[in-house]
Amino acid sequence: MNNLKWWQKTAVYQIYPKSFLDTTGSGTGDIAGITSKLDYLQKLGIGAIWLTPIYKSPMVDNGYDIADYTSIDPSYGTMKDMENLIDEAKKHNIKIVMDLVYNHSSDQHEWFKESRKSRNNPKSDWYIWRDAKADGSAPTNWRAIFGGSAWTWCEERQQYYLHTFAPQQPDLNWENPDVRHALYESANFWLKKGVGGFRIDAITYIKKPKEFVDGDPDSKDGTVAVHTMTANTPGILDFLHEFKREVFDKGDIFTVGEANGVSADELKNWVGVNGVFDMLFEFSHLVLPFTNGEIWCYPREWKLTELKKALSDSQKATKDNGWYPIFFENHDQPRCVNHFMPKGADMIKAAKAMATILLTLRGTPFIYQGQELGFANVAWDSINKYNDISSHGQYELALKEGFTPEQAMKFIHFFSRDNARTPMQWTSGINAGFTTGQSWLPLHNDFDKCNAEIEDNDKNSVLNYFRKLNNFRKQNETLLNGDYKELLKDDESVYAFSRSTENSKIYVLVNFTLNKVEFSAEFLNQSNLIFGNYESNDKGILRPLEAVVYEEASK
Ligand code: NOJ
Repeated sequence: MNNLKWWQKTAVYQIYPKSFLDTTGSGTGDIAGITSKLDYLQKLGIGAIWLTPIYKSPMVDNGYDIADYTSIDPSYGTMKDMENLIDEAKKHNIKIVMDLVYNHSSDQHEWFKESRKSRNNPKSDWYIWRDAKADGSAPTNWRAIFGGSAWTWCEERQQYYLHTFAPQQPDLNWENPDVRHALYESANFWLKKGVGGFRIDAITYIKKPKEFVDGDPDSKDGTVAVHTMTANTPGILDFLHEFKREVFDKGDIFTVGEANGVSADELKNWVGVNGVFDMLFEFSHLVLPFTNGEIWCYPREWKLTELKKALSDSQKATKDNGWYPIFFENHDQPRCVNHFMPKGADMIKAAKAMATILLTLRGTPFIYQGQELGFANVAWDSINKYNDISSHGQYELALKEGFTPEQAMKFIHFFSRDNARTPMQWTSGINAGFTTGQSWLPLHNDFDKCNAEIEDNDKNSVLNYFRKLNNFRKQNETLLNGDYKELLKDDESVYAFSRSTENSKIYVLVNFTLNKVEFSAEFLNQSNLIFGNYESNDKGILRPLEAVVYEEASK
């Protein structure tokens, strides 16, 4: 246990500040709201908070479009509020982890405002500019991740600029050393303020190919998803090693990269001794319930063995090199009880079952706000009620592909990022205690039953299950660092694994179905139940959605 670093021995809690707690009545959350909940977070047993972006931003993509990397958006408060949060969090043994969004900035950033003015200003090649094709159309047929062309025309320069995401999020030109050093400087600004780490956004997209060419269309409109043409381009690791030297190596921090497009066999170049980051968020388990087609939110039939394999592969890949960030939710994903549990599931049992896996695999668990209370997806009746820019893009794309509005809404219900962004539910009072004003996004209508106040007082709540298991895990060498071994491998109902050290063993079993499952349980003979989402357990039987943690009596 002693050879583990601080961030390997604790869970991280992710906060989406806009939806966390509003202290001013503005209808959006703020930094002071986070500071006021540090006791709550400490009791949950977390050691770090990953804050999604709180920088100055026009909020086209809720802060992932940054207009100034070293100032706070006024809707969240001031730099003083931020410094106060870092200090107060420290008193609670919690570190603040910042989100670095360096593939792109906002089109309202001074750098872009300058760059777009002409072809020969000092920042003219800080972004990615290209001439139109001979017929005036965009340089390539690439489609932005949020829909539409990945190129937008700029009148002043008579050129197109590239944006992997929305037109308001122009991609920065990492080939230019001045750009890279300006970005490192802004990250070092936060290091000096005492932050405990960085989550690095969309990092596999920063290096673009030498030649920009049309790709084979993957959509009826003749476009191809931009990231299939640009992700993980050779040479990217040179940039990242420089980033590491200039920033990451300077503090006792952890880094976790958001890394679409890095395969398991490349992982050793990205994490661990010869890599760049401490951890990488990869999505092999999260994408299983989606197709990879044009409408990437289209639901797909999936098997439990696929999920078990994805998780086991990640455990294997990080056994001796690097470290695994365990996560089932974030601000871009559906709630895990809807994502992975069968329709008709008892939501409390389902939430505890997912929590059991999250907190017993080997790695650093990331708890996303509301997950500890058992939040579920929403299903609003009209696309106009959705705020998420990506939901709108996907809805349009679905209609273009010939789906009916009803079908398109089904995708949105299943996948929309707003599922994860509904405000926190603190009490049964007005707006669930989130705001005294008009909430920026509708609340989930279950808040009178599912909220922190009620769950705090209920010993069987999801919240108290998270607290107990997470605080147990922190002190338990087997769960922190024991070896992982998958059990009942081919079983399509139960996910089972053990964690073991030389003289200890823990077994985890979760029934993902609504049926009672029986299995041969001799391997549990010497073990006692220590956690579960039912009061007791009969060895060899798992009731619907039952999750159990057994510990072998010491030898
Ligand atoms: C990934 C972030 O998690 C997502 O919320 C954002 O929209 C994109 N990157 C663009 O920054």
